[in-house]
Amino acid sequence: MERLEQTALWNELFQKAEEARKEAYCPYSGFSVGAALLCADGAMYTGCNIENAAYGVSNCAERTAFFRAVSEGRREFLAIAIVGGKRGGPVREFCAPCGVCRQVMAEFCGLDFEVLLTDGKSLQRLSLGELLPHSFGKDNLSKV
Ligand code: THU
Repeated sequence: MERLEQTALWNELFQKAEEARKEAYCPYSGFSVGAALLCADGAMYTGCNIENAAYGVSNCAERTAFFRAVSEGRREFLAIAIVGGKRGGPVREFCAPCGVCRQVMAEFCGLDFEVLLTDGKSLQRLSLGELLPHSFGKDNLSKV
């Protein structure tokens, strides 16, 4: 799969992200997020946000999905669908990944990795290159 063109696949990813969002542990923000990550071999991993009373320890849905996938040996990824909004309510706004999650994506994904968002009405399709230009990565360290 060079580029992700199949609408059916997108729908499946968004459905899985919505399912994962129901498991969000977000007693402090009340903002639940779900993500579904598509691996190069077709496997899908989901994640939700998991908060902590020590707020900074909280983990975003995207990183939950990435860490689950990486911990099971996956290293190549094509796309991630992300949905977020007020806990218990419908998705109304695009939920773009935070900077920390973008950096985690950059560790494992190329600039053409696709980030799929929805506001409940329309889709937004962004590349990692658009979301994190001029990033710091393993290439920088290889020149040391
Ligand atoms: N959050 C995510 O899980 N992903 C995002 O892309 C943005 C923010 C979470 C972190 C925190 O639990 C809550 O949403 C509010 O910031």
